[in-house]
Amino acid sequence: MPKVRVLVVEDESLVARDIQNMLRSLSYEVLGVVASGEMALQKASKSAPDLVLMDIVLKGDIDGITAAEKLWEEFSIPVIYLTAYADETTFQRAKLTKPFGYILKPFEERELQTTIEMALYKSNMELKLREREEWLSTVLKSIGDGIIATDQDGLITFMNPLAEEMTGWTQDEAHNKLLPDVFCMEDLSSGKVFRPEKGRGAGENMLLSRKGGQVPVEQTLIPIIDRKKAPWGNVLVFRDIARRKMAERELNESYDRLSRALEGIIRAMSVTIEMRDPYTAGHQRRVSKLACAIARQIGLPETQIEGIRMAGEIHDIGKIYVPAEILSKPGKLTDIEFTIIKTHSQVGYDILKNIEFPWPIADIVVQHHERLDGSGYPAQLKGDAILLDANIIIVADVVEAMSSHRPYRPSHGIDKAITEITQNKGVLYDATVVDHCVRLFRETNFSFE
Ligand SMILES: [Fe+2]
Ligand SMILES: [Fe+2]
Repeated sequence: MPKVRVLVVEDESLVARDIQNMLRSLSYEVLGVVASGEMALQKASKSAPDLVLMDIVLKGDIDGITAAEKLWEEFSIPVIYLTAYADETTFQRAKLTKPFGYILKPFEERELQTTIEMALYKSNMELKLREREEWLSTVLKSIGDGIIATDQDGLITFMNPLAEEMTGWTQDEAHNKLLPDVFCMEDLSSGKVFRPEKGRGAGENMLLSRKGGQVPVEQTLIPIIDRKKAPWGNVLVFRDIARRKMAERELNESYDRLSRALEGIIRAMSVTIEMRDPYTAGHQRRVSKLACAIARQIGLPETQIEGIRMAGEIHDIGKIYVPAEILSKPGKLTDIEFTIIKTHSQVGYDILKNIEFPWPIADIVVQHHERLDGSGYPAQLKGDAILLDANIIIVADVVEAMSSHRPYRPSHGIDKAITEITQNKGVLYDATVVDHCVRLFRETNFSFE
């Protein structure tokens, strides 16, 4: 291990020689002996000793206490004070400079060794702590969030540069001010001005800068608890979310545009089919309207209702494959004609299956002629195998078809349609859907138009 290098600052040569001998016999390396504060600083800057033994009372412009302060602050060299007498004023002044040791002349070798070892240990710890603080402060300064720390009384102790920029306060101005006086927000939803307070969790608000600007922020107030679980202060972390807000807005706008485009396409598809089958013009739109009303009555979420609406609008899209003569044939259909008509569910599925809708549109379409007891087509699905969304379209389809007027037959009327679904409730048609559909006609003013 390299020897500890010590500089002695002592203007009495006899004493200096004594100390020098003691140090050598204790296996320390004596870098030199100087007699004034000025010379001590000069020597320290050149040869960087590990420790300085300093007589408090020195001749010259710089006394021991001033020199010790500079040695620690500028060169991180710990100092042990030596003095032959300890008058109260000197002692108090020396204490203020937080010496790493204090030793009264005359002293024993053993005493000197203990004091030196303690001073080296203490200064080492202090330097490590200082490094850590510097590291932490660099991290906090370079971090992409605004950070304000307070003590337990809510008085500001630290602000990083981003916090300074966003609040319009410098750390020096804000130091020892109450957090609410510096960090002031407006609630984005209510428009009320409020200040962060203990226990108030994360949230999105508008930060009102001292310089008059406003920044949307997301903030969290975190209490700091010490090892004994006592509150020690708070850290407020906040982030500028202007960019994220703008991205969210753009995303919403682009979603709206896409939705409108999708709606337009669905509408166009719906009209295309109905152009070939003018007798049932408007059927899909009306089925869609009734299906949505039932879904809303049941209490389904709006996103699901949106899918039901689109499925309703194009549920008969497969009819594009059925010859127009069959579609518009007045009177009863032959078995073959009916078989051809029945293909429209599967054809509809085939047309739609590769389109990535956010809803199971193709499945709803293929199931829209299934029946609860397995008597429907094309797959004779039973019970739970049929989607709720499809069950809603099934009931809406039957009610609309029966209650509408056709050129080749008069309308059966809504009452007959209601009787049909009520009689077959739980047999052909889903009971919940039927109940809500009946309630819609009996208790509200639902109208297809
Ligand atoms: Fe159909
Ligand atoms: Fe239909």
